[in-house]
Amino acid sequence: MLLSGKTELIVTTLLVISMNIKDYLEQKRIAVDRFLDDVSPPAATPPTTLHESMRYSLMAGGKRVRPILTIAAAEALGTTPPGLMAVACSLEFIHTYSLIHDDLPSMDNDDFRRGKPTNHKVYGEAMAILAGDALLTMAFDLCSRPDLMKGCDPVRQVRLIQELAYGSGNVGMVGGQVFDIQAENKDIDLPTLQNIHKHKTGMLMRAAVRMGAIAAGATDRQLDDMTGYAEDIGLAFQIADDVLNVTGTREELGKNPNTDAERGKKTYPTFYGVDGAKKLADDCVARAITRLSSFGPSADPLREIARYITSRKN
Ligand code: IPE
Ligand code: IPE
Ligand code: MG
Ligand code: MG
Repeated sequence: MLLSGKTELIVTTLLVISMNIKDYLEQKRIAVDRFLDDVSPPAATPPTTLHESMRYSLMAGGKRVRPILTIAAAEALGTTPPGLMAVACSLEFIHTYSLIHDDLPSMDNDDFRRGKPTNHKVYGEAMAILAGDALLTMAFDLCSRPDLMKGCDPVRQVRLIQELAYGSGNVGMVGGQVFDIQAENKDIDLPTLQNIHKHKTGMLMRAAVRMGAIAAGATDRQLDDMTGYAEDIGLAFQIADDVLNVTGTREELGKNPNTDAERGKKTYPTFYGVDGAKKLADDCVARAITRLSSFGPSADPLREIARYITSRKN
């Protein structure tokens, strides 16, 4: 059956609304996994060890929250713009690289991630660093490739690439990792902790939401609202990560718990206790949802993702 553009949009919106968030996340995760697999270099292509190591971490089964946020932000504006999957998945390339480097002995020195030994435990430190470098570089390749981005307005495309760079780099995620490392074994205050979270986790989530909105042609007002939403869920996400580090098990998390305390990191539970931290994360989620008040039901997945962030078990 052929549907007109408008009818198709209404049908898609109704489908999205009627689906519960678990199904929505699962369906999007499968689509993201498939795309990541398609665009990743085959392990048999030289340099084979590098490609094997990149795939090892990328395809290890993350939740894919960042690419799903990009897709949901675009859908909230009622469209699936050209190149959306490439743009969304570029964030997962950056995120996976950041996890590989975050786990290195010189950083958090973790040996378990996404339910498997960390990249450097399997491939050695040099290869883990290089796999991270290659994933980071490939993220920009994805957003620039003519075949994957066909139909995207070139000015918009440059804006997307700039958002990705800004969110990932020295004043974004990498900056946050620096603040985080410098705070180890220090008696930091709450604003300092908030600043760490805002950057190390918040900035990439902010980029994810903004990139979806920009790709979908958001107005300035819509982009501002979405940015506010993203900043609130970014903080909620890292507070939840801090809480899970205290309350979760290795089986649930796919990574070792209690590592923050072992490394002398002050986190939200250190300041507020587990229940206090949970309450603060819930407050962030409520604020995030308020930020979307000008959007209709097409933004329901974004609202549900916000709720999922604090209810998740991993
Ligand atoms: C873990 O991110 C690191 C943080 C920024 C808190 P996720 O919880 O999204 O990890 P994966 O991608 O599902 O493994
Ligand atoms: C990771 O933060 C943030 C990144 C940019 C990778 P954490 O170090 O607190 O996250 P986990 O607990 O190792 O996943
Ligand atoms: Mg870290
Ligand atoms: Mg870590």
